[in-house]
Amino acid sequence: MKRIAVLSSGGDAPGMNAAIRAVVRTAIYHNIKVYGINKGYEGLIKGDVKQLSKSDVANIIHKGGTILKTARSENFKTKQGRKEAFAFMEAFEIDGLVVIGGDGTYTGAMKLSEEHPIKVVGLPGTIDNDIFGTDYTIGFDTAINTAVEAVDKIRDTADSHSRLFFIEVMGRHSGYIALYTGIGSGSSYIFLPEQENSLEEFTELLEKSNRRNKLFNLVIVAEGNTSGGAQELSKLVKEKLGEDIDIRNAVIGHLQRGGSPTAADRILSSRLGYHAVNALIEGQSNVAIGIVDKKVVYTPFAEAINNKKLPDENMITMAQILAL
Ligand code: F6P
Repeated sequence: MKRIAVLSSGGDAPGMNAAIRAVVRTAIYHNIKVYGINKGYEGLIKGDVKQLSKSDVANIIHKGGTILKTARSENFKTKQGRKEAFAFMEAFEIDGLVVIGGDGTYTGAMKLSEEHPIKVVGLPGTIDNDIFGTDYTIGFDTAINTAVEAVDKIRDTADSHSRLFFIEVMGRHSGYIALYTGIGSGSSYIFLPEQENSLEEFTELLEKSNRRNKLFNLVIVAEGNTSGGAQELSKLVKEKLGEDIDIRNAVIGHLQRGGSPTAADRILSSRLGYHAVNALIEGQSNVAIGIVDKKVVYTPFAEAINNKKLPDENMITMAQILAL
């Protein structure tokens, strides 16, 4: 291994910079040249690249976003796009690639390494935590800390006005953020995409627990749940329970994707970046690097993509018991 490249792709996640820093510094330690690719796979196709030194990655461990920028590339989904990307890497004599992103990023990486003689490893970078082959993804811890902090603030108003609040958190296909935010903020109910949540059940619970008008309620809604978003749910519940119930909704949105990564995310990202380079040196390819039960594991991309990582059933039950 003489030259490697690193890129971030898909949605940004806090901790990506810490991972890039770890990749660059570990590679340089092993006398490997590192190239940073701008804007994910799009930059790989265009050859938008810059050699990175140790000092280029100084002062970034605490920064959210990604210094390499990111994009969701349509071109890279085509064989031709991947061919052009490989041609660029061949010209630059790049023999290893580290990609940081979610399952879309892994799919691109898998195809690239199957179609062309290039070693590719992936790091799980998404706030959603829905990647198989790792307990936690880069950015998840920061996202739930941001969400819990936001819910704590909303709690003040909910409590003062005895209001029911529907608070929507991110997670298009996954309830991890909602579940962990719900548990961490002591919410009354959580709408998850992985469960058949019924409005009936929720309103019955409210009535049963006698909290309807007396106390406040914080309800966490995962963006991807099937019953509707926070706005829709607050409308439906108002229609069902009558005008006298005081309901508001809030969407935390992209606030969850930004900000300085937590210590846990910086440490996870540093470990993953370090092990990504070690994996390439060992000759690994077509695998995602993760940490499961404190141990570093390599999961073939195909396995990481095809397996769903669902939130733990026991935690869902616990959240229900601790709620209303
Ligand atoms: O996958 C990360 C994520 O933040 C999801 O939780 C969310 O649904 C999506 O990205 C939003 O994507 P965009 O920033 O492109 O609107």
